[in-house]
Amino acid sequence: MDSAEELQRIAQEVVNCTACGLHFTRKKAVPGEGPADADLMFIGEAPGFHENEQGRPFVGAAGKFMESMLEGIGLSREQVFIGNVIKCRPPRNRDPQPDEIQACLPFLDRQIQAINPKVIVTLGRFSMRRYFPNAKISEIHGQAKFINGRMVVPMYHPAAALHQPALRGVIGEDFKRLPEWIAKAKSGLPSERTEPEEPQQMSMF
Ligand code: URA
Repeated sequence: MDSAEELQRIAQEVVNCTACGLHFTRKKAVPGEGPADADLMFIGEAPGFHENEQGRPFVGAAGKFMESMLEGIGLSREQVFIGNVIKCRPPRNRDPQPDEIQACLPFLDRQIQAINPKVIVTLGRFSMRRYFPNAKISEIHGQAKFINGRMVVPMYHPAAALHQPALRGVIGEDFKRLPEWIAKAKSGLPSERTEPEEPQQMSMF
């Protein structure tokens, strides 16, 4: 099966998933979207109100902000894969619970494996914890690190900029470095913070 077919299969499984309690309250599951051969993959937290209505990731205010950041570096959302740690909206946008993250994890793992992106950008702390379980986002945002041969760049969640306008500039600066990270990842050159290491324990979420 090629990667596009695998992504479609995953999406089908996601919309039919009943592995955690969120399926009782979701309107539409949000598998994620983008090219199966994307160089760049964004991993957000969880669908919000608009995503739950439309079944698509980052289509609300945070998504608009993210699109403008992408535009600033000459990319459109159609050129990148956009996914989430969990695929169904938590009621009232509460934080995802450990059992929900655990139940959804195989979908994200399979998406990453199918796409095999050069660079993963984690958006916000839930996504960051997959790769940097003990880190503080204020200390490591925007810094690329090779983890198991793949470049990972933790960033603030775009929704944070909607609540804290001072973060707009910070996120903008982090986005501006992405073309450089992608070029480095493509050339196989290690980033400044290269550390060979095993993937983090998935249970560390
Ligand atoms: N926030 C997220 O983390 N993901 C979405 O899809 C939308 C908003």
